[in-house]
Amino acid sequence: MDSDWKAGLEDVVAADSAVCTIDGGAGRLYYRGYEIGDLAGTVPFEDVTRLLWFGELPAADEARAFRARLAEARTLPDSIVGLLRSLPRDGHPLDALRTAVSFAAALDPDAGSIDAEANLRKAFRLVALVPAVVAAWQRLRIGREPVTAPATDSHAAWFLTLLEGHAPSAEVARVMDIALTLHADHEFNASTFAARVAVATRADLHAAVVAAIATLKGPSHGGANEDVLLMLREIGDPDKAEVFIESRLGRRGALSRRERTEPRTRVPGFGHRVYRVDDARARVLRGMAKAMAEATGRQRLFAVAEGVYDAMRARTTLPVNVDFFSAVVYDALGIPPDLCTSIFATGRIAGWCAHALEQYADNRLIRPRAHYTGPPPRPLPSTLAVRSSSA
Ligand SMILES: CC(C)(COP(=O)(O)OP(=O)(O)OC[C@H]1O[C@@H](n2cnc3c(N)ncnc32)[C@H](O)[C@@H]1OP(=O)(O)O)[C@@H](O)C(=O)NCCC(=O)NCCS
Repeated sequence: MDSDWKAGLEDVVAADSAVCTIDGGAGRLYYRGYEIGDLAGTVPFEDVTRLLWFGELPAADEARAFRARLAEARTLPDSIVGLLRSLPRDGHPLDALRTAVSFAAALDPDAGSIDAEANLRKAFRLVALVPAVVAAWQRLRIGREPVTAPATDSHAAWFLTLLEGHAPSAEVARVMDIALTLHADHEFNASTFAARVAVATRADLHAAVVAAIATLKGPSHGGANEDVLLMLREIGDPDKAEVFIESRLGRRGALSRRERTEPRTRVPGFGHRVYRVDDARARVLRGMAKAMAEATGRQRLFAVAEGVYDAMRARTTLPVNVDFFSAVVYDALGIPPDLCTSIFATGRIAGWCAHALEQYADNRLIRPRAHYTGPPPRPLPSTLAVRSSSA
């Protein structure tokens, strides 16, 4: 076996994909060739979803037809609400979402099929299901009842109405729309890859999305935005950011792994496997976080975030990633820390489905090899033979 390999599948190309690509050196992200900064705020999330699934920006009639199919899928079965009611209220929102998607698999009218039309119908249902579950769970756990919203609303406005119980302002709906678009896809990130691995076994789409949600939860991936918000709140004061970062990285933080005597504590929202410079999405989110902080009077948290950003810049070359300033935006929207990753999932479901549809269409089992480091082939111990013959 080739010994020239890197842990964590670093730099490994696992499949062809036409959905999305990243230029890590330039900090750029493209959905089907369109730069994320050009799409966000200009093309609504529904059209971005259609772009990811079908490859082109829709003409007006195509966009209308896509929205109509999505609107049709916007129902939350009573049995799913019943399931959510039965879960412990202090459970993590992403666990509730994962459980609900798993349950929804059994209710799906196309449960037994993975043909292309069935998968597309399921994709519409899943894009509608995820925000509906996220919102219903949030309301139930704080003692409120789930509400309905006009199915003809934009996706962002529909979600916010389900979450808050009233229609959002146009500005807040626009912020959510941009956040969903920025999170909609990111090439072969861990959760999308998990979904593709599941699809490659010819498992059903719900199974793949369950795998994706499970993978998103970890603090190295989507779970980082929750950690960012908790960290910024813990710091609390912009003047304390510098000392906090020093305590996290250690005074010897600049030393290489071999020279360090204690492990470095990671700072959530920084570092990336592919980007070498600040993430394009983070640049958009930083501007949004500033504007939202000013509009909502939550400038202090934004100032803490800026302090952490400067302290990290002074000490490391780690790029800021999407989870850092998105956490500040979510805070300004009144999203609690443990709900942040579910908002991520509400956008990323579009990309998970795009990749799943692509994988189903041109499928080969994804099955890497291990670089074996265990003992060489050897006989069973003779004592085992004695034990088994005397038994
Ligand atoms: C995203 C992440 C998992 C990428 O990991 P990776 O590509 O495997 O990179 P590595 O873990 O090999 O890290 C490379 C070096 O940078 C350091 N590093 C990476 N991210 C760091 C962070 N956020 N804070 C402090 N140091 C960090 C590592 O300690 C390592 O240094 P060393 O080789 O001297 O020990 C990692 O950067 C991280 O844990 N970030 C924080 C969590 C986060 O924001 N996740 C969301 C990503 S979108």
